[in-house]
Amino acid sequence: EEILALDRDCTTLSRHVLQQLQSFSADAQDVSALMNRIALAGKLIARRLSQAGLMAGALGFTGEVNVQGEEVKQMDAYSNDVFISVFKQSGLVCRLVSEEMDEIYHIPENCPLGRYTLLYDPIDGSSNVDININVGSVFAIRQQEGDDLDGSGQDLLQSGRKQIGAGYILYGPSTMLIYSLGTGVHAFVLDPSLGEFVLASENIKIPKHGAVYSVNEGNFWQWDEPYRNYIRYMHRHEGYTARYSGAMVGDLHRLLFQGGVFLYPGTQKNPEGKLRTLYEAAPMAYLVEQAGGLASDGQQAILDVIPDQIHARTPVIIGSQADVELVQSFLSEP
Ligand code: AHG
Ligand code: MN
Ligand code: MN
Ligand code: MN
Repeated sequence: EEILALDRDCTTLSRHVLQQLQSFSADAQDVSALMNRIALAGKLIARRLSQAGLMAGALGFTGEVNVQGEEVKQMDAYSNDVFISVFKQSGLVCRLVSEEMDEIYHIPENCPLGRYTLLYDPIDGSSNVDININVGSVFAIRQQEGDDLDGSGQDLLQSGRKQIGAGYILYGPSTMLIYSLGTGVHAFVLDPSLGEFVLASENIKIPKHGAVYSVNEGNFWQWDEPYRNYIRYMHRHEGYTARYSGAMVGDLHRLLFQGGVFLYPGTQKNPEGKLRTLYEAAPMAYLVEQAGGLASDGQQAILDVIPDQIHARTPVIIGSQADVELVQSFLSEP
């Protein structure tokens, strides 16, 4: 048993990524280096979060408002900068797209060799930060298409099928990194004493059905009637239970392992809902599809949604196949 445990301890994220890619080509080396940089960003953010309550200026608002119209938290700004500095020196990534930056962030010194674009949500669940509840980071990797000479990033306004990898980091009781490069979904736990993400579960499959539904019912009267009918159905039937944390990463992490459905429908005020396509919905949809689940905007797969701008939003219904289909059955009622 001791030997088995040791063997498992030896599967670090970097080794795992190389195994997944099954190649030592230049591309594989780059993706592997890129994943290592993401892991480094995760460690830096986890370290800051673990001490934030003791540090002057780590919590609370910055006083700025981001392009989404949200008040920026210190941890949003810090974590956004972590990704920038980690990728500035990497030589791998030519462009960054973040929830916390109005425009695409170009790293000319990495171009044209670094042909990857990293899209990320530095802190998901910002409202949880000041009260020491779980938050996350979300990322997607895309290969740059064309030269993007005018810097407008037109090639990014394509479907989520263009992602070559995606994942999230969950800052909970332990820090976890979950990723997929198109060959299954794999979970790692940060061992702080080693400073390594160590393999915890491989080829995760989301259960076909789960008891949990995860949605902000405070928006009930802001939704279209079919969503209200779905929730009424859930209230009237046994075997369902509600969980909603204010951080999509945490809520979806639960579903990945235990099944169920997460929804963020459009509201009267925001017909496209709240979640951003490129760095929230699409990466999560990629993971959930890789795990055998479904992700829909109510009409089509999230991975087929084509954003009309980098910060575009989309409604989401995401999780176990049977539970997503149940929601859809209400949407298609005449
Ligand atoms: P972010 O903190 O990155 O802005 O994202 C918050 C998102 C998501 O994590 C969460 O599920 C949802 O917003 C919560 O929004 P409501 O408070 O409107 O339910
Ligand atoms: Mn935000
Ligand atoms: Mn978010
Ligand atoms: Mn965020």
